[in-house]
Amino acid sequence: MKILALETSCDETAAAVVENGRTLLSSVVSTQIPLHRPYFGVVPELASRSHLITINAVVEAALKKAQIKKNLKGIDTIAVTVGPGLVGALLVGRMSAETLGWVHRIPVVGVNHIEGHLLSPLLSHPSLKPPFLGLVVSGGHTELIYARSWGNYALLGRTRDDAAGEAFDKVARMMNLGYPGGPEIDRMARGGDASKQPFPRPWLPGTWDFSFSGLKTAMLYRLQQRKRWSIEQKKHVCAGFQEAVVDVLVRKTMAAASALKISTIVVGGGVAANSRLRTVFSERNEGGKFKILIAPPVFCTDNAAMIGSSAYFKVRYGKKMDRTSLKIQPQMHIPMFSGRLPAPPFK
Ligand code: KG4
Ligand code: ZN
Repeated sequence: MKILALETSCDETAAAVVENGRTLLSSVVSTQIPLHRPYFGVVPELASRSHLITINAVVEAALKKAQIKKNLKGIDTIAVTVGPGLVGALLVGRMSAETLGWVHRIPVVGVNHIEGHLLSPLLSHPSLKPPFLGLVVSGGHTELIYARSWGNYALLGRTRDDAAGEAFDKVARMMNLGYPGGPEIDRMARGGDASKQPFPRPWLPGTWDFSFSGLKTAMLYRLQQRKRWSIEQKKHVCAGFQEAVVDVLVRKTMAAASALKISTIVVGGGVAANSRLRTVFSERNEGGKFKILIAPPVFCTDNAAMIGSSAYFKVRYGKKMDRTSLKIQPQMHIPMFSGRLPAPPFK
């Protein structure tokens, strides 16, 4: 089954063609980062307009790379992100998908963006299958998810305030490091020593939830300690902050996997591109106790390939499918979990 997938939930206009959920035929991503950089964040109205201008060219490029003709012959399903995200931005993807589906008489499937991130390691690790524990860490989400089977997810924990990526972005802004902040802090931290600027760990014992806003405040007070910060000192601060975020994410994820006796851990979302997070996950996996699957960085940040993969499993195993055109609505929040699991005490 060949799926044409579209993703426009935030600031990347993306299209991809994916075969049977695991084989990537093409992936095209047009980023709006330069457009939003002056504002240190995504401006929703600018995002929608830019998606509108770019989407047709991006879809055409993805089809061309996958050697699919403009009449979409060979495409069985069209997938589109319907949420969570910016409503105006989502609308552009949805209308494009619906129009293509209507013109070419191809069914359209709405996909949850978080599920896309959760399943993003599939393209690089085709053997992945549930049950597994997923950590989704992006600019808008920090969620620990138990995937029992395809499409059957239980929530273990989530952030109570800022998402991990949001904390990276806000801290980078405090330090005048540019936007988006995650890659900037990652780069700076490589030359720093975390032990020279240690930060507290927000463990939230007794729950699998996360909290990053206190860490952000700790950074604010830390920066007020000196009038001038040399590049060298800034690198240590970045390393200290990053280490605290990574330590909490990795320790809690591994503790949850042990408690639930799950041997496969997947990590997705923009923050999964963080070099230290990737290293610490493998360093702490003593004796290869867990199978840890993280997509290559290019599939951690927003892309349509992950939407195409998710759609395949939705169509194949989904109980309810939105296969009829013109019925899909963009949603800022979409129910994804069948329930929330109680947390064994985490110390
Ligand atoms: O998944 P994504 O592209 O968009 C959302 O769904 O939010 O994630 C974007 C987030 C931003 O907050 C960005 O700063 C963060 O991912 N990010 C990183 C890195 N690359 C992107 N955070 C830490 N280290 C990175 N290397
Ligand atoms: Zn995302």
